[in-house]
Amino acid sequence: MIRTSDTSGGLHEHDEVVVTGGAGFVGSHLVTSLSRLDKKITVVDHAELPAHVAALPGVRHARADLRDYGETLLALQGADVVFHLAGNASGTVSVEKPRHDFHLNALGTCNVGNACLELGVQRLVYLSSAIVYGTPRSSPMGEDHPTQPFLPYGASKLSGELTLRSLQQSAGLPVVIGRSFVVYGPGEDPSRAGGEVSQFLRWHLNEMPIPVVGDIDRKTRDFIHVEDLCGALVTLAERGLDGETYNLGSGTEVSLRDLAEAVGKATGRPALLDADDSSLEDSFSLVADVSRLAALGFSPAIPLADGLESLAAALGPFPELPTAKAVFRKERPERRRLTEAAAC
Ligand SMILES: NC(=O)c1ccc[n+]([C@@H]2O[C@H](COP(=O)([O-])OP(=O)(O)OC[C@H]3O[C@@H](n4cnc5c(N)ncnc54)[C@H](O)[C@@H]3O)[C@@H](O)[C@H]2O)c1
Repeated sequence: MIRTSDTSGGLHEHDEVVVTGGAGFVGSHLVTSLSRLDKKITVVDHAELPAHVAALPGVRHARADLRDYGETLLALQGADVVFHLAGNASGTVSVEKPRHDFHLNALGTCNVGNACLELGVQRLVYLSSAIVYGTPRSSPMGEDHPTQPFLPYGASKLSGELTLRSLQQSAGLPVVIGRSFVVYGPGEDPSRAGGEVSQFLRWHLNEMPIPVVGDIDRKTRDFIHVEDLCGALVTLAERGLDGETYNLGSGTEVSLRDLAEAVGKATGRPALLDADDSSLEDSFSLVADVSRLAALGFSPAIPLADGLESLAAALGPFPELPTAKAVFRKERPERRRLTEAAAC
């Protein structure tokens, strides 16, 4: 059992740990980290587990759709600690299918929070996103920065946060919330992942110029390696305060021009940028103030240069090219005439 006062520096030996979304990019890394700590882990996910996750010692799969409360309750039975990562992670998908996004991220999270209360789970860690802040007003951003999301994805993640925090206040749900900045590392799906690090590497490793939308100097980001993110999530489980929110980032500001230079250094060949500044929609600084996380005794251990080198090695020459596009606005459909349909 994990308690907020725990200073033992480890998850407790007999904890039953659940990772929702453990078949996905971040989740499969988290399951791997927890398996190294000899934990018994149940992955709650409606998708198949990747073979390397299914083969880990101590891992079992409970297939469930978290939009269904009965399935959620059944899948979380026996859990001491729950890491809730399942959901839609794509802003573009949320623009194209906002109701789908809301069902997964808001309703699914509400179901997980309620089930944790009903089952007496000792600690719930929710992985939210820096997208909840919306357009940054200051940089670096602390956790008290206003939350005004401009994408449905930001609104659905924020709804999840607000629901869990209200359950903490009204019913004592032992929840800690982490807001991740831009994650990168091996295992991202190039057809869905919009993070710049693996996208830049994929173009460059194919010996092609890197397409970039926006101002390459004003567009700055905070990149965190997925293994550091998993370390931060375990720290939240062990030492995070109930009801508190923590930024999960490196705290280091990197412009897209800097990133391209770092890609060149990591691969021994200068990177070419094909910059399109016709849209400046997200040409802002998105950088975390990580002092609250640091006060828990955690700081990221993988510098960008090292993370890039190991990711380049993992991708190998000529990896699959990224096809994920950043969509901020949907084409407006013609107004539907429901009366016509009724008349047919
Ligand atoms: N990847 C990032 O850059 C990033 C950044 C900030 C926050 N996050 C958050 O981290 C979490 C994981 O992101 P990811 O990149 O690993 O995404 P991912 O798409 O790789 O994984 C999500 C997992 O959730 C599962 N899932 C989706 N809907 C489900 C449902 N209804 N029931 C059960 N399982 C369901 C999927 O099968 C998948 O395995 C998300 O909540 C996302 O909002 C990700």
